[in-house]
Amino acid sequence: MEEVPNTFVTLSASVHLGQTIWMLGVASTGFALQLAKNAGAYVIATAGPRSSEHVEAAGADEVVDHTATEVSAAVTELVDVVLNLAPIDPAQLAALPALIRSGGVLVNTTVWMPAPSDEQRGVRGIDLFVNSDAEQLSRLVALVDSGGLRVDVAQRVPLAQLPAVHAQAAAGELHGKVVIVASAA
Ligand SMILES: NC(=O)c1ccc[n+]([C@@H]2O[C@H](COP(=O)([O-])OP(=O)(O)OC[C@H]3O[C@@H](n4cnc5c(N)ncnc54)[C@H](OP(=O)(O)O)[C@@H]3O)[C@@H](O)[C@H]2O)c1
Repeated sequence: MEEVPNTFVTLSASVHLGQTIWMLGVASTGFALQLAKNAGAYVIATAGPRSSEHVEAAGADEVVDHTATEVSAAVTELVDVVLNLAPIDPAQLAALPALIRSGGVLVNTTVWMPAPSDEQRGVRGIDLFVNSDAEQLSRLVALVDSGGLRVDVAQRVPLAQLPAVHAQAAAGELHGKVVIVASAA
């Protein structure tokens, strides 16, 4: 199976056909979800009430409301990969390896806390940082051009409205990308 070029999964463990991946905080970027679906994964996503419709539309197979259910209580079957994109607390992060099959991977972007592993079961914790890799980014652009990756542009606003965009983001009212348009000189 062809591996999907994936900014998030630079992690030596790519997501493959038939694998199950649990994503926390996926509303903050639709790309991880789309790339996992492109790779043939079954995606369970956590999303709060403000994001669930958006996450379903982006292709999640199941959506679990993290404001109503503790993630660890919602897992009925162990998954292959957990991708954490959410600002969860240390206890929530520490509970994640137990949700992963032996040999699976926990990828954590909330890197002020190191990703925990479970060495006995071969579950690896991987800390993932933003990585501006030109070759990888150009593969993502090619995917956008071919329609394999959709950029969800929510709005285009003039530069003068940037403070309002930040306020919207801080209030959790922003979904998708915002294009800031500089006025012509
Ligand atoms: N490693 C890196 O290079 C890098 C780069 C940037 C940011 N980060 C880190 O990534 C994390 C997310 O940053 P962000 O700016 O995207 O944050 P954010 O917008 O505050 O949170 C992203 C999403 O996480 C969800 N969420 C919040 N609490 C949750 C919980 N307890 N369980 C599950 N989902 C939860 C929310 O989803 P709903 O809207 O669905 O409620 C929210 O939309 C932060 O810890 C940040 O420090 C890392």
